[in-house]
Amino acid sequence: MIQGPEPEATRRKAGITESSRANRGWWDRNADDYQREHGGFLGDDRFVWGPEGLDEADAGLLGPAAELKGRSVLEIGAGAAQCSRWLAARGALPVALDLSRRQLQHARRLDEEARAAGGAAALPLVQADAGFLPFADASFDLACSAYGALPFVADTARVHREVRRVLRPGGRWVFSVTHPVRWAFPDEPGEEGLTAVSSYFDRTPYVEQDERGLAVYVEHHRTLGDRVREIAAAGLRLVDLVEPEWPAWNEQEWGGWSPLRGRLLPGTAVFVCVAE
Ligand SMILES: C[S@@+](CC[C@H](N)C(=O)[O-])C[C@H]1O[C@@H](n2cnc3c(N)ncnc32)[C@H](O)[C@@H]1O
Repeated sequence: MIQGPEPEATRRKAGITESSRANRGWWDRNADDYQREHGGFLGDDRFVWGPEGLDEADAGLLGPAAELKGRSVLEIGAGAAQCSRWLAARGALPVALDLSRRQLQHARRLDEEARAAGGAAALPLVQADAGFLPFADASFDLACSAYGALPFVADTARVHREVRRVLRPGGRWVFSVTHPVRWAFPDEPGEEGLTAVSSYFDRTPYVEQDERGLAVYVEHHRTLGDRVREIAAAGLRLVDLVEPEWPAWNEQEWGGWSPLRGRLLPGTAVFVCVAE
């Protein structure tokens, strides 16, 4: 494979279109590595909220598993749709949405492997941007996202409004993101990741750009207060904020998430919201 120069990491503005285009390309190029590296931990049909390993089967953040049967669920930034597969196994009716075609091809691969082993039918997959959901109003009972889309989207308030629009009143919207305090620390699993080096309050996006200055990867930061305000402004009510603690059994490193940092700092925030 021909490889160009390493992208330059910087902090600068990046709007909706540039962020979406950059991240679509990045996830298409990196989906194979992501699934190879993390697919074992995620499991083909588990619902894991983040690197700590918080499992929906234990947490029940979408409600009791026994009540999922027959519920329509939109999974946003589904990747290979492991969470949707867990939901389908409980009788729910998930739709798995992702921006990246390559991620969705992994979802289809896992479906085909399951079918070959006598498993369930293929999941409905939709390639779209989380900010522009191609569904009618009030189409879903529940919506969820495990680190999908929200860390990468420039206008996250718009995503919440879109989710509110496609949810029926009373429906839950549960999403996990990198815990906002992590923004102040280097994204490193070791000791160097324990010293704050930048301002928690600086919302300037993290951008990797090529030699022409075009973004090839973008992450956006929101403080805890920003997230709460965006949720409320979209007509959603925040009913819980879960900060999973690092469990003793989990010895794996996942990028900047590690047992060392996990024992000292929160790594993931899971927001549990209800459509008013
Ligand atoms: C960290 S992965 C999480 C995937 C899956 N939920 C998991 O736990 O493995 C982030 C996913 O968000 C998707 N994504 C990024 N930006 C998006 C956007 N604007 N709209 C929809 N999906 C997006 C990526 O393609 C990727 O599959």
